[in-house]
Amino acid sequence: MAQEKTIDQKVESLLQQMTLEEKVGQMNQYNGFWDATGPAPQGGNAAIKYEHLKKGWVGSMLNVTGTEETRKLQKLVVEESRLGIPLLFGFDVIHGYKTLAPIPLAEAASWDMEAIEKSARIAAEEASAVGLHWTFAPMVDISRDPRWGRVMEGGGEDTFLGSQIAKARVNGFQGDDLSQHNTIAACAKHFAAYGFAEAGKEYNTVDIGTSTLFNTVLPTFKAAVDADVKTVMNGFNILNGIPVTGDVFLQRDVLKGKWGFEGFVISDWASIAEMAPHGFAKDLKHTAELGVKAGSDMDMESSSYVNHLVQNVQEGKVDEALVDDAVRRILKVKFELGLFDDPYKYCNSEREKEELYHEDHRAGVLEMAMKSIVLLKNENNLLPLAKDQANIAVIGELADDKNSPLGSWRIGSDDNTAVSFLEGLKSYTNNVTYASGPKVFNKDANFLNEVQVNESDTSGMEEAVTLAKESDVVLMVLGEHGFQSGEARSRTNLNLPGLQLDLLKAVYEVNQNVVLVLMNGRPLTIEWEAENVPAILETWQLGTETGNAIAKVLFGDYNPSGKLPMTFPRSIGQIPIYYNHFSTGRPDPQPNVFWAHYSDEQNSPLYPFGYGLSYTQFEYSELKIDASDQSAIKVSATIKNTGSVAGEEVVQLYIRDKVASVTRPIKELKGFKKISLQPGESKVVEFVLTDAELGFYNHNYDFVVEPGEFEVMMGTNSQEVLSQTFEKQ
Ligand code: GLC
Repeated sequence: MAQEKTIDQKVESLLQQMTLEEKVGQMNQYNGFWDATGPAPQGGNAAIKYEHLKKGWVGSMLNVTGTEETRKLQKLVVEESRLGIPLLFGFDVIHGYKTLAPIPLAEAASWDMEAIEKSARIAAEEASAVGLHWTFAPMVDISRDPRWGRVMEGGGEDTFLGSQIAKARVNGFQGDDLSQHNTIAACAKHFAAYGFAEAGKEYNTVDIGTSTLFNTVLPTFKAAVDADVKTVMNGFNILNGIPVTGDVFLQRDVLKGKWGFEGFVISDWASIAEMAPHGFAKDLKHTAELGVKAGSDMDMESSSYVNHLVQNVQEGKVDEALVDDAVRRILKVKFELGLFDDPYKYCNSEREKEELYHEDHRAGVLEMAMKSIVLLKNENNLLPLAKDQANIAVIGELADDKNSPLGSWRIGSDDNTAVSFLEGLKSYTNNVTYASGPKVFNKDANFLNEVQVNESDTSGMEEAVTLAKESDVVLMVLGEHGFQSGEARSRTNLNLPGLQLDLLKAVYEVNQNVVLVLMNGRPLTIEWEAENVPAILETWQLGTETGNAIAKVLFGDYNPSGKLPMTFPRSIGQIPIYYNHFSTGRPDPQPNVFWAHYSDEQNSPLYPFGYGLSYTQFEYSELKIDASDQSAIKVSATIKNTGSVAGEEVVQLYIRDKVASVTRPIKELKGFKKISLQPGESKVVEFVLTDAELGFYNHNYDFVVEPGEFEVMMGTNSQEVLSQTFEKQ
């Protein structure tokens, strides 16, 4: 009996049969352009794409969903093209498909990798049930600039936390067997440094040094590659003068060379063609040449490859071996997904009915949402509310909004499917009166248009203030619209939009028993709020189960355990402000002005990275270091719940390499553990530091561990820590 061929052998034998046009076809991805359940498109661009599908000149489609539509398109290609190579259907399943999880930045605030992996698994169950093979997630871009709208989509400002999240999400999407019908290929994006866009302006220039690139930006992608991510997406930005889509060093030397990545690189939307407006290529044909030479294997929706790559090869501008390498990578993923065995395995209409909005999915995103909530302030233990709390006022348009809390990047979801704040609250109590206050956002805000903010019409203010005056406690639900963050949503002002702060101040004037419930997709500048309001809950945009999650926290059925994955600045002028900054040569206050500071603002943030309170209190003591085994340095501390209720605490471990050949940050997160403690209970939490945690990349991109003094810190956030030092030999 002939031995079953390996996937690599199957790829090779298929590749040998392919014409150059068919090879280039696999490198071409089109956007869904007509309802395939309807008649074939006539004339124009759609008809061309339709013809290319039948010729086998399309390797993948994006934004086509549903078992009926994907089956129809797959059948067209499998049965009508010469070799019948199945299509890959890709889609942005960023934080769920129909059942929506919290936005990724909110999930990052949970610091709970198990919950994050489970959330991605739920997304994969629903995405695979509607015919999708591939998600363009996780977005693993580190960013320190909340003016940039896409911070909502990532894991925050820290590389260590971001790397753990990247791994959890890749594992959640891909599972442990990609050939299963409910696992999908993941995509680490955007390779690389998109989150460092100058001034936080979308699509803007990125110009950073090698130390930031090697030590802050690249490790989250390396973590995804080490987790066997099947695809990587590049980006729109230039990095130090070179469009990342055309960057040979990034995509060939680092990703495919040093890291040994065996999957394929998809461009971002038309980013291959955009090398021309960047001034890196003279025309589309030139972009096709530069893209494939740089290791961009598949062209998303710019038609550069399908229209020009064959000619480039025939003219000798591009070596066909580069095309073969790209096609091998693409075919390999299709074989690994099992699409050649059964091209229709993801087109099960029964499963489509069963999986979407499944109660287990709702339960899973509810758990994720509760864990994502961060308690920022709780003076006089105003929270949790008593279950029989009477005379509750709820104020703010967002409290009654079933759409905005779904967040951005949810193009497969159904509008108005969130449990609103009010609905969640009313599942606990009817002692509630609601007043919207002045309108904030246009009701027809969507993924494509600019959100309009009311800056002048104060109608509703008086009614809200009157209600507040007559109430025992006021729950103010304020923040951003879900579409004020996400792609192409950069902001230069991070205050509460519109008249919301005016409303809050007017309410506070008549009733100081205020709980501020924030709904936002990025850190905001909320200095007055933090100064005056007794209780503040950061609830981000929590997805389908928003109202239920917040209610459980408000009434104490879930003790909040979230920790900020991104620094909250005092003012916009401090940005970029992040915890793992460098010392400078003048870090300390001087009797004169000549030290690193502002004349009009503090250096410290409003809330630091890793910050988050609980309804109980935790005490840290007995920090110990055992450096006897230099390959595994043990660090431990005792954490005690000194409060009256059970709670979870994210114990954080930071290091500082005091003297190095390339200056190192004043502290870097190198470990965290989420523990549960009953009232009065103590636990000793131990970490082991190895060279992997103590080293860094130098300017040659060599990973080095240098002897000398290290400081070790352990604590409840990046500022409140116990500290000791040890000598690394
Ligand atoms: C978008 C985004 C990218 C997304 C792609 C497909 O412009 O930059 O993250 O996956 O296009 O929608």
